[in-house]
Amino acid sequence: MKFTSYGHSCFAVEINNKHLLFDPFISGNELAAAIQVDEIKADYIFISHGHADHILDAEAIAIRTGATVICTWEIHEWLHAKGVTNTHPMNIGGERAFDFFTVKCTVAQHSSMLLDASYGGNPMGFIITANEQSFYYSGDTALTMDMQLIPLWAKLQFAVLPIGDNFTMGMQDAVRAALFVKTTTVVGVHYDTFGYIKINHQEAIDVFAKEGIKLHLLAVGEEMDFSNL
Ligand code: NI
Ligand code: MN
Repeated sequence: MKFTSYGHSCFAVEINNKHLLFDPFISGNELAAAIQVDEIKADYIFISHGHADHILDAEAIAIRTGATVICTWEIHEWLHAKGVTNTHPMNIGGERAFDFFTVKCTVAQHSSMLLDASYGGNPMGFIITANEQSFYYSGDTALTMDMQLIPLWAKLQFAVLPIGDNFTMGMQDAVRAALFVKTTTVVGVHYDTFGYIKINHQEAIDVFAKEGIKLHLLAVGEEMDFSNL
């Protein structure tokens, strides 16, 4: 599982030479100015919820790549109306096998309105399992008791969690989330992009380390291999 950060909560995980892209938001992110949106590879695109900082570049990337977009029913319908037809609607609690991986959609405590004020359905997170390895991306969310269910479904290689506070969990709650989902490896997302969510990196690394958890704060464009932890 090769992980690539594209800034904010946008990242890709490469499995079996296929590219799973999450929450594409690049062209609106000043910190991701070095990333070329029209060069990003995608075979599958996952959208956790409808906010612009998670969906802004989804339409363009989906149309260029022909990737299958996995999202809520409401976002699926919204994308169809825009001419993005290779979509697969899911909802919280649902699990489904795709060609080389399975997806389970998890609860996220947040909100979800699309760019034109359409309702985006409930926000969600995803557990992806492939080749007997799993990871969890919580999406934008508060810390929730539901996260304690995740170890019943998957033994995680790593988790991708928001740590920027204000709109989502902050670093302290993200540590609790990591303990709930039983992982010792976390990739922090949803921080620094806007003034509201600027964090002190060393402080974040330290609060995770106190609980024996390694927090990775990847630079935009940085890659990391999480296969052999
Ligand atoms: Ni959001
Ligand atoms: Mn967000």
